[in-house]
Amino acid sequence: MDSDVLTRSGRAYGAASDRRGPSAPTDGATTPREGSVSPPQDDPLWWRSAVIYQVYVRSFADGNGDGTGDLAGVRARLPYLKDLGVDAIWFNPWYPSPMADGGYDVSDYRDIHEQFGTLDEAEALIREALALGIRTIIDVVPNHISDQHEWFQAALAAGPGSAERERFWFHPGKGENGDEIPTRWVSSFQGETWTRTMEPDGSPGEWYLHMFTPEQPDLNWNHPDVRREHEDVLRFWFDRGVAGVRIDSAALLIKDADLPEVGEKPDHPTEDRDELHDVYRSWRAIADSYPGTRVLVGEIWVPDIERFTAYLRPDEMHTAFNFDFLARPWNAASFRASITSTLAAHAPVGAPSTWVLSNHDVTRPVTRYGREDTAFAFLKKRFGVPTDPSLGLDRARAAALLVAALPGSLYIYQGDELGLPEVEDLPPQLIEDPMHYRSGGIDPGRDGCRVPLPWSGQTAPFGFGPDGSRSWLPQPAFWATLTVEAQLADPASTLHLYKQALRLRRQLPELGDGDLEWWDDAVSGAPGILAFRRGEGFACLVNTAEDPVALPADHEVLLASAPVQDGRLPGNATAWLASRTTHPSREPAASRG
Ligand code: GLC
Repeated sequence: MDSDVLTRSGRAYGAASDRRGPSAPTDGATTPREGSVSPPQDDPLWWRSAVIYQVYVRSFADGNGDGTGDLAGVRARLPYLKDLGVDAIWFNPWYPSPMADGGYDVSDYRDIHEQFGTLDEAEALIREALALGIRTIIDVVPNHISDQHEWFQAALAAGPGSAERERFWFHPGKGENGDEIPTRWVSSFQGETWTRTMEPDGSPGEWYLHMFTPEQPDLNWNHPDVRREHEDVLRFWFDRGVAGVRIDSAALLIKDADLPEVGEKPDHPTEDRDELHDVYRSWRAIADSYPGTRVLVGEIWVPDIERFTAYLRPDEMHTAFNFDFLARPWNAASFRASITSTLAAHAPVGAPSTWVLSNHDVTRPVTRYGREDTAFAFLKKRFGVPTDPSLGLDRARAAALLVAALPGSLYIYQGDELGLPEVEDLPPQLIEDPMHYRSGGIDPGRDGCRVPLPWSGQTAPFGFGPDGSRSWLPQPAFWATLTVEAQLADPASTLHLYKQALRLRRQLPELGDGDLEWWDDAVSGAPGILAFRRGEGFACLVNTAEDPVALPADHEVLLASAPVQDGRLPGNATAWLASRTTHPSREPAASRG
């Protein structure tokens, strides 16, 4: 696979000397706040099989009609998520933010963005979701903060050499006048990673590091204030009943303080450094001090699978997003290779894998899988790459059943359950994503997967907000056929497929956490088949080729992503099967595809 698939910067990971982190600290644990809200404690292993739905608040549902999604909108739609059958919601950052990077530039970790609502509403939402059996996972962004955060403002004001600047990476520039950047590290948003400050008298000053935009200065994780602050933020939200945190850019926090260039030393100066494991051990101690299992989920773009699963050792994170599978092309052999290596690497650390088809950063599966090149890589993104939406939808539906049948937990990005495509014709002047404009306009950016959801009705905003309101990004007119309302009325819709799959996943003990056994002779002689069995007689069969295949006669179809006729599964489709002889528990029969 191309190295650019798994690193934002396009870097191939080099050999690292020490693959083992230092030993676990024993401090960091605390007693939860009196009267804190707690998720249920009946199932401490809930996260190993959970179905987690990702809510990008800004684009989920708009309660007050200002064009931006909000917590009122989410609260009103909790019954929808209950009906869909999810176990938890992961919210992208919902904190106050100038929105230089869609909320990943946080100016206050202990409050809610004023366009989204209030802290009281967030607490109410967490309680209401729990009452429906849905846990809440929030996003924490430890690598950087907003340049408007009080710490950074204080650092700018205090000047060179001050204690306030120690919390960041302020450095004099190189060269005689200090006007050369301290390192040539490249941002995953492309471009340079240092910005020069101005002294109060107008003269050029020190430079500060930002691995993303200049509005997102990197924190110095060697500083005790930075560690204490984040541990406190974790407690703040665990006290309010959140069941876990998604850790943004989790492999980037620690930098080599010598500021070497990439390649100058055996280990990378800014990515996947061994010292990170200590940070997550102390976070795990905090999570474990709370009742009900509170989980740590890492966003880790590390291509070496063993270095990736090192973050999932029993005293570190619970799980991490499995981006290897997401990046794979539509190809049975490639899928199988990814699944096999993922499961093999997770087994020794005892962590379940996660399965992720998309999120707020990547091109929607319907669009991706309809292209000639179906693999995903950030650096490949361009305007005007043709796609076949009907083929893409068939494959996205098939992929949804495939990942829902694999061992581990499952993530669903909002709108994937509706089969929404990427919106690729947004008016350029409306695109806000820094990935777009930092690429000089070559990369379309990520707003195309962040277009507000269509809920109902025939015209925009399709129930996203009250009639007559305008959504912050425009929705295509043809989304009238993709609304929740339209799909609820259509038994063949993608929404129904997801609902049936999630219902079966709850009913069938074979699904979720556990093992998988490849089933090589499920269909003899047909190319492009991926088939595996789970437990006593459940099987999943994916036909990635074009031609239909005859399904094994001694199995019945529990669910299929496309109509099965005369026992034949069409191309670009998946079927869930039950052995007629060995499957012990097929009742109640939720659906027959
Ligand atoms: C993560 C987020 C992405 C954000 C970046 C910087 O990759 O998923 O949306 O832009 O971190 O915080």
